Amino acid sequence: MPRDLPRDTVTGANNYCSNLSRKSIRDRRFTQYTQEGNRHVYQTMKLNEDTGRSLPIENFYQFDCDQRLTNCFFQSAALLSPKILLVPYDPHHVPTYHQWMEDTALRDATASEGLSLEEEYNMQRGWRLDPDKLTFISVIPPAIENEADKASIIAGSDDAAGRMIGDVNLFFQEDDDDEDEESDEGIEDGDDSSAPSMDPEGHRKIAGEVEVMIARSEYRGRGLGKATLLLFLAYVLRNREEVVAGLCKDGETATLSTLKVKINRNNHQSIGLFENVGFRKKTPGTTNYFGEYEMCVEMPLEQFRVHIDGLLEEYGMGNWRELQYERSLPNGH
Ligand SMILES: CC(C)(COP(=O)(O)OP(=O)(O)OC[C@H]1O[C@@H](n2cnc3c(N)ncnc32)[C@H](O)[C@@H]1OP(=O)(O)O)[C@@H](O)C(=O)NCCC(=O)NCCS
Repeated sequence: MPRDLPRDTVTGANNYCSNLSRKSIRDRRFTQYTQEGNRHVYQTMKLNEDTGRSLPIENFYQFDCDQRLTNCFFQSAALLSPKILLVPYDPHHVPTYHQWMEDTALRDATASEGLSLEEEYNMQRGWRLDPDKLTFISVIPPAIENEADKASIIAGSDDAAGRMIGDVNLFFQEDDDDEDEESDEGIEDGDDSSAPSMDPEGHRKIAGEVEVMIARSEYRGRGLGKATLLLFLAYVLRNREEVVAGLCKDGETATLSTLKVKINRNNHQSIGLFENVGFRKKTPGTTNYFGEYEMCVEMPLEQFRVHIDGLLEEYGMGNWRELQYERSLPNGH
């Protein structure tokens, strides 16, 4: 399976593909942009593996980069719990992140490509800007004498390189589980687009694919992967409309309708972790072309939110808080 994007199928002189959505390549989907100054035109594409043609899933969205960095609700959110701190992925994290990803075993476990440092900086910018992605860096929390006195998280200090241990992220895509065959047929028949899936209330259905990584091996097996995942899921489930709002055009509403994860069949630790928090194998005993199990949340997400809140309490993290992430430079750039 190609690990690179099919750039030659993309039309237009100044288009570029986001090589951030590694998993989306495997899902035959990727995002495409046209950059006009500070304005990005964003479009979700679907790749037909037989013909190599990529076709738009639906109409494009436009956004202003600076506005998105400033206004988007989660750009300045830090999530503080006694076990783990989650902060937005900022440029000062990139050298450490890049160093982690030099490890081939880690790249294999996370289905990632090796990138140059410059590519990693582009990747970081994409993870902050793209409406179909949400990511946090996982950090050992600073020692706090009096919880109530801690009003904000200071970028570069509370999350200095030595405290960084991993990341957690979501990649959003159309929730078209029931329509995969139909869409593929549509593409083969020459139909140039497929309509988004809607729920009965008229909201676009968006699926979120989770990925978590504790990059520093000396921190694995200490409950920090679970702490990271629980805290992230609690935040996402509490903000189900907001996290997908960037994918809506004017007048549209969207809802996070399902959560899933794809894990290599040999990654027992990760499978155990996701089972532990409530994900289930979709088709036990069967893996996809890439040897991965797809695991999903079978209960309605509102019920799952209550379940995750309960696990956080049990894990001594029920008192987690969302704090302002204070940067000395605007947007960390
Ligand atoms: C997978 C990973 C995130 C797990 O994080 P971790 O901090 O090592 O795991 P934790 O200590 O938090 O363990 C959490 C749960 O995972 C499960 N688990 C851990 N090790 C396990 C193993 N060897 N077999 C089965 N389940 C296991 C347990 O249910 C455990 O919960 P418990 O301690 O309450 O029993 C981490 O090992 C990692 O980043 N590995 C490399 C990258 C990767 O594989 N990412 C996943 C891609 S989807």
